[in-house]
Amino acid sequence: MIIQKKHGKVVSDSGTARETFKMVAKTMVSLEEVLADELRAMGAQNVEVGTRAVEFEGDMRLLYRANYTCRTALAILKPFAEFDADTDQELYDQVYRIRWEKIMDVDATFMIDSTTSGEIFTHSYYAALKTKDAIVDRFRRNFGKRPSIDTENPDYKFNLHIRDNHVTLLMNSSGDSLHKRGYRQGVGVAPINEVLAAGLLKLAGWQCDSNFYDPMCGSGTMLIEAAMMANSIPAQYYRGGRFGFMRWKEFNLGEWKSVKQEEDRKIGSLDFEGEIWGNDIDERVIEQCEKNLEFTKLHKDVMLHIGSFEDQEPPEGKTLIVTNPPYGERIKVEDLNAMYEKLGDTFKRLYGENCDVWLITSDFEAMKHIGLRPSAKIPVQNGSLDCRFLHFEVYEGSRKAKYQQDAE
Ligand SMILES: C[S@@+](CC[C@H](N)C(=O)[O-])C[C@H]1O[C@@H](n2cnc3c(N)ncnc32)[C@H](O)[C@@H]1O
Repeated sequence: MIIQKKHGKVVSDSGTARETFKMVAKTMVSLEEVLADELRAMGAQNVEVGTRAVEFEGDMRLLYRANYTCRTALAILKPFAEFDADTDQELYDQVYRIRWEKIMDVDATFMIDSTTSGEIFTHSYYAALKTKDAIVDRFRRNFGKRPSIDTENPDYKFNLHIRDNHVTLLMNSSGDSLHKRGYRQGVGVAPINEVLAAGLLKLAGWQCDSNFYDPMCGSGTMLIEAAMMANSIPAQYYRGGRFGFMRWKEFNLGEWKSVKQEEDRKIGSLDFEGEIWGNDIDERVIEQCEKNLEFTKLHKDVMLHIGSFEDQEPPEGKTLIVTNPPYGERIKVEDLNAMYEKLGDTFKRLYGENCDVWLITSDFEAMKHIGLRPSAKIPVQNGSLDCRFLHFEVYEGSRKAKYQQDAE
């Protein structure tokens, strides 16, 4: 039985009823709750947190808004068919019965990403191939020609999701991953993923009501994400309006423009009074950072220093510090343990009790050399690296705590 997804209606301010439907926002490990908060704040209904995903309901305006403004989503998917299949042939038959001509034109291009689990469909590539065959066979029968596959830049990106015998087909409304914000003009050696950077800021409680400092800022991803939040700049403001949904048959240009205008009008509405500082030892990396800041026109909002972190005091007053030091994976540091020890010493010596310090690392050995007990240790993933996001509360007793830990 094919269920073509339909949910309900919402009534807009103007009194017009709009169809609502289910959506799935994809994200990273430990960012599900912050993403759910973002979605609720923009009016999503029936928000349910899953594993690296959040399900929610809303109308097409919400789909546009979520793509344009969510800082911690990698993609917004729209499920459109759901059914059970126990064999390859059943999968083919059910896919064939979907009215694909209502979804896309025969001249459109598409691709299918697939994930399968369970004992029936053990090869996700083969399940995607069967699905593709059913789609093109239906078009060929009805139109005498078929849509083409394009894995680089397709008009439609479909997700095929199979768990045991349960099949869900979803449309990826984002197109390219939403971490591609469009502001990277220059990259350092190991830039952090933009969605992860925004998520770490949210996990660290960045409320735009203090200063922000990244003592090892590299090309400035943390600084830019922090400054974008402080200026209420939509997450995809610099992306150049490239989203998958814009190539859909049902794309409504008027609604999209109105959502974008609503969000762009909020820019600068926060009255942020703090300072945002970045520091890095590598002059060439700071040049890349400057390029990115100039591109985003945030260069007047961020102050940069060149030097080693232990020589640079943070801004005066309440300051959130979030940093991404070398892990020794992509960046070689001669003695990483000594460097992490120096970091801990700097936290204690230079960062007073006005500072709230967070650090992400995948080096669990070097981490121990910080010499402070973290008050939180959140598992996160940076690319393929298993990482921890550590919180250090710096206070008078920190030094004592170090000796206690050393003694254990
Ligand atoms: C993992 S990268 C940071 C990447 C950054 N988050 C980004 O998105 O581009 C670590 C950075 O630490 C810097 N670094 C290494 N040793 C340093 C030191 N002693 N003081 C300041 N920065 C240092 C490196 O130059 C590098 O840019």
